[in-house]
Amino acid sequence: MSLPSPSTAPRDQNGDGNSDGDGVIPFGTTVIHSDRVNLSTPILYSNLRDKTIVITGGASGFGATCFRAWASDGANVIIGDINSTKGTELVAAVRQATGNSHLHFLPLDVTSWASQAAFFKQAAELSPHGGIDCVVANAGIADAKENAAFEEPPDYEHYQHSPSDADGETAPQAPSLKTLDVNLYGLIYTAHLALSYLARNPDSQACNVQTPAAPRDRHLLLVSSIAGLAGLPSQPLYAAAKHGVVGLFRTLRLITPIKHGIRVNMINPYFVDTPILGTLGSLVLAGGGMATIDSVLDATTRLVADQGIIGRALVIGPKTAAEHARIVGLELDAADQAVWDVHADDFEQSDLFTRRIIGVTNLVTRARGWAGVATDIANKASSGFWRALGY
Ligand SMILES: NC(=O)c1ccc[n+]([C@@H]2O[C@H](COP(=O)([O-])OP(=O)(O)OC[C@H]3O[C@@H](n4cnc5c(N)ncnc54)[C@H](O)[C@@H]3O)[C@@H](O)[C@H]2O)c1
Repeated sequence: MSLPSPSTAPRDQNGDGNSDGDGVIPFGTTVIHSDRVNLSTPILYSNLRDKTIVITGGASGFGATCFRAWASDGANVIIGDINSTKGTELVAAVRQATGNSHLHFLPLDVTSWASQAAFFKQAAELSPHGGIDCVVANAGIADAKENAAFEEPPDYEHYQHSPSDADGETAPQAPSLKTLDVNLYGLIYTAHLALSYLARNPDSQACNVQTPAAPRDRHLLLVSSIAGLAGLPSQPLYAAAKHGVVGLFRTLRLITPIKHGIRVNMINPYFVDTPILGTLGSLVLAGGGMATIDSVLDATTRLVADQGIIGRALVIGPKTAAEHARIVGLELDAADQAVWDVHADDFEQSDLFTRRIIGVTNLVTRARGWAGVATDIANKASSGFWRALGY
């Protein structure tokens, strides 16, 4: 597809979904997005107090770090995880350290709909105000063996012609796709339940870019990865799942603020030393410029605490000094910056393309008028008629 550069493309400065100026692109839908996240402003920690936040995969890594911090900030935090031992111990320790009694662990397997449905129901019941303000869809795995097996399939052709195939044991087997079960389908279950519960959060208002702080919220935060924005060699299934999360984000950010008043944001961290990397991963990445879990916490907290941030994605990379930023052409908002707004520039480009296609479709529809509708219905009906006669 050939698109004008961002500087020459018709812009939608007023956020009404139409290109400003000549009005060439008839789209007509209101889109609610906040501007690029200003990373130099203070994080609104005080707005976390009394919010009910639900985190999937909260027993370890990012989830556990956010749990500890937000519990200290006075939030009611409910974590779910497949690792019940770790989750239970974590909650007990943080309850004791913070004196916050609105902290809970619930067993959860995100790949099971029944488990997720029960988790959300119990979380809402445990919430002091009976609702959920924020859902962090975070649970994930990285299975190096499964990814490697996918990339190196057996020579099925050879097996099928080998004599031992007579018993069918060497017939091609479907690849294992647990990575997608957890990281994509599990996250989609979480998002689906989040849309239902967040929209029903008692006393909450529809999201609004002008309202950075309010007692109640409706926020869905999706955890993708840098592997959701670019290919990740040796991790095809992981990258496919994380790209799927980006696809979900791109669509929900358009729809849910308007339809349900729910704001949807996303994080795309670079490698961070957590148990998901495994010993081998940590060794391979040792000495490399990794992101830190503190930066992930900063980015995540900013998105959760500032209710005026709607439809944005933050990349978390290594801390970058001004000198290095200049060399690679990045603009710094703050010294030693590690968090970057993805600007959604590629979204703007492809959204523009999509708007043009929809615009053309609308123009064609309008030009064809009622006669076009009648012709299409008549064609459909007559093809059904001939099919019914066996033609
Ligand atoms: N660490 C990184 O380098 C990195 C980078 C980018 C994105 N991410 C993403 O961040 C998220 C959190 O990862 P992390 O680094 O904290 O890893 P982690 O392994 O420390 O935490 C992941 C948690 O998810 C839980 N989990 C796994 N399967 C589950 C299931 N079926 N149901 C419920 N819980 C389940 C695990 O038990 C664990 O507690 C993941 O989605 C991961 O893909 C991590």
